[in-house]
Amino acid sequence: MATYRAALIGAGIIARNHLDALGRLQELTASAVADTDELKGRQVASEYGITHYPDYKEMVIKERPDIVIIALPHHLHEACAVWCAEQGCHLLLEKPMALKVSECNAILDAVASSHVKLMVGHTQHYWPANLQAKELIQSGKLGKLIAIHDTRHLFYYGDGRPSWFFEKDKAGGGILMNLGAHSIDKIQWLTSSRVKSVKASLTYEGRIGDVEGSGCIFLQTTSNVTAVIIQSGYEGVAKDETELIFSNGMAKLISAKGMWVSKGGQYEQVKPIVKEDPFVLQFKDLLRAIQCDQDPDSSGVYARSVIAALEAVYHSDEKGVEISVEPK
Ligand SMILES: NC(=O)c1ccc[n+]([C@@H]2O[C@H](COP(=O)([O-])OP(=O)(O)OC[C@H]3O[C@@H](n4cnc5c(N)ncnc54)[C@H](O)[C@@H]3O)[C@@H](O)[C@H]2O)c1
Repeated sequence: MATYRAALIGAGIIARNHLDALGRLQELTASAVADTDELKGRQVASEYGITHYPDYKEMVIKERPDIVIIALPHHLHEACAVWCAEQGCHLLLEKPMALKVSECNAILDAVASSHVKLMVGHTQHYWPANLQAKELIQSGKLGKLIAIHDTRHLFYYGDGRPSWFFEKDKAGGGILMNLGAHSIDKIQWLTSSRVKSVKASLTYEGRIGDVEGSGCIFLQTTSNVTAVIIQSGYEGVAKDETELIFSNGMAKLISAKGMWVSKGGQYEQVKPIVKEDPFVLQFKDLLRAIQCDQDPDSSGVYARSVIAALEAVYHSDEKGVEISVEPK
């Protein structure tokens, strides 16, 4: 069995999810972690018995990993992904792919000319309730899917969030760039289509930073499903729910909890399916892409469509009009 060496760039909040998943896969071994923050880098390295480097370029040159996982602040995604692709590394690049479509294009060019695989970490594709919902939609049991109502409330301004998330030039935006990327991905993936138009209204009432703290988005997909996304990062009651409205019923997804389907006017929970951790499934998908020379489910071209929709969200809010998302 071929084994692949993986190295992680960024020892922040999401780092342990990736390293734990690597530890569960026989075909993958974690060799090193790079982080400019010596304290964080060394801590993660000692927990997982791997080497810490302050400079990711030095790490890649010395370790020559087959795969790099890029878990950096959003404004660093493009430069790091392009450079690592040029070194011949396959990439698992965290979502959102980059700040803008033009940056996504630069990454896609580097990946194509270096003949490496790129997967973007859209983990929504691997959550059990989402997999159940996709099967339900495709089965046609509740008729035609006509609308989606996705709600996410989460106090975004808590002490634990690193400060770059509140700087537009580093994060690309606020709650919508970060968590809205998940919602747009979920809607596109569930409907096997792309966002074709958006009308968005955002607010900037957060106690710090220059990014939006809430947003309402009305969108339409190329499969003619209408969706509404409402997200708020202000204080309130945490909520992470997606309702699917069909011609003959409804379904509700609560992240990490499961799926409910309407029966006789009430929601009844569908028996949850036991699936592997989404981060393990994500690595399996990347391995399949490398071994079979295919694109992973969440390819760079797919992930660029999420950024195109997000660009349209900010544009729509600025101009106060509905924006068409250009097909790429
Ligand atoms: N898929 C998911 O569900 C999920 C969840 C959380 C975060 N994310 C994504 O993961 C990425 C990282 O998010 P996070 O929450 O871990 O952020 P974080 O700020 O906790 O971690 C980023 C790390 O990068 C380090 N860093 C900054 N510049 C560097 C450089 N030049 N070289 C090496 N290290 C450098 C920082 O010191 C920090 O430790 C983001 O793209 C975020 O959107 C995805």
